[in-house]
Amino acid sequence: MSERISMHGQWSSRLMFILAATGSAVGLGNIWKFPYIAGENGGGAFVLIYLLCIALIGIPIMMSEVLIGRRGRQSPINTLCTLARESGKASSWRVVGALGILAAFIIVSYYGVIAGWALAYIVRMASGIFTGVTAEGAASIFRGLVADPERLLAWHTIFMVMTTVLVARGVRPGLEQAIKVLMPALFVLLLILLVFAGTTGKFEEGVRFLFNPDFGAISVGGILIAMGHSFFTLSLGVGAIMMYGSYLPDGISIAKVSIAIALVDTLVALLSGLAIFPIVFATGMTADVGPGLIFQTLPIAFGQIPGGDFFGTLFFVLLVFAAWTSSISLVEPLVAWLVENKGFERSRAATRVGVCTWLLGIVTIMSFSSWSFQFSFGGETKNNGLFDVMDIMTSTFLLPLGGLAIALFAGRVMSRSSVVDELGGKDGFSFKLWYFVIRYITPAAFVAIFINRLFP
Ligand code: PFF
Repeated sequence: MSERISMHGQWSSRLMFILAATGSAVGLGNIWKFPYIAGENGGGAFVLIYLLCIALIGIPIMMSEVLIGRRGRQSPINTLCTLARESGKASSWRVVGALGILAAFIIVSYYGVIAGWALAYIVRMASGIFTGVTAEGAASIFRGLVADPERLLAWHTIFMVMTTVLVARGVRPGLEQAIKVLMPALFVLLLILLVFAGTTGKFEEGVRFLFNPDFGAISVGGILIAMGHSFFTLSLGVGAIMMYGSYLPDGISIAKVSIAIALVDTLVALLSGLAIFPIVFATGMTADVGPGLIFQTLPIAFGQIPGGDFFGTLFFVLLVFAAWTSSISLVEPLVAWLVENKGFERSRAATRVGVCTWLLGIVTIMSFSSWSFQFSFGGETKNNGLFDVMDIMTSTFLLPLGGLAIALFAGRVMSRSSVVDELGGKDGFSFKLWYFVIRYITPAAFVAIFINRLFP
């Protein structure tokens, strides 16, 4: 059979796919979001549920997304439509692709704002203002930043321009080299932070907080948030991994790459948590301060270690980079669809999408100052109005629902033979296990969790 290639191009190698998909998965979700939602939801039990969701739901769905993408070789909307038709099913499955794009659109709008905070922190770190900073000092510097919409808008604009330029050029060129160097560097910096966390005297307390499950501390809403986050962190349910799968050359083992990506992603999240919570406890902060958590803790660490200004600056540079490689994957499915269906030039499609998501980002910017309001979700008080609404709507509902649809699609819409074929042609034990999981276990887990939430 001649090799099938997407009209948008193809990764040069297996390594390139792994790097790009890991670049998509590892981002603000691991370093910024995981610690703060673990903190808000009581730690250990939340982390355990999150890990179970990664293993039992996340990895099988990631395999499904990659295989659907590679089979269809188009943007998610068109891939789902074509494959459904091929199996004699309704082309309305394309709605799943469209909902994913909607979710990605909303996510990238606030992702750009938070990445903007990280950009702002590069400058603050480099200026040396955190040397010897106290917890109150770090908190007040953070509050000063988020209460200043004009400044946030400037940083958000810079990040959205960076994203748009990279997507306009095509996702591949340049990415491979950059990811190869910068990802390991991020890893090393996390290890340095971990060593610092070890010197705070509260390391054990941090470890206990993260790994000692106290099921009394987690609400049903917290379970839903843990499940939603397993999708967010692996970039599932919006078509991003499906899109990247469509650029994956034939003959590469989908199971192996999916497991590798999930492992690296989880490791980065756990390392961040381990670096952050000892600082939280050592400085007498509470774990549930919300989205400002890393911005209020890590500067304290960098303010105390030798060469901290340098390492801190580098850390935020790398965090921005991690966010960048994630945000391009959020935008890519919509851009590819505009190219396929509307005949747009790639750069024009990228610019339009960039401008629209930039505009929506203003809602998030204002959510941290004049438009902020409080509401309660899953037993937690949320302080940041529409930002929290958009986050809950996407991570907690749209992504898991998208993931469920993807599992059903691979498990029940596509023919078994085409799925076997895409996963390497062997109908052995591991295939059967995976197939059973996505046909029965994943849907049952969703139903159980959602029913639990609706009728607690
Ligand atoms: N996985 C990214 C992170 O953890 O920061 C966020 C993300 C990227 C979510 C791409 C969804 C997506 F399609």
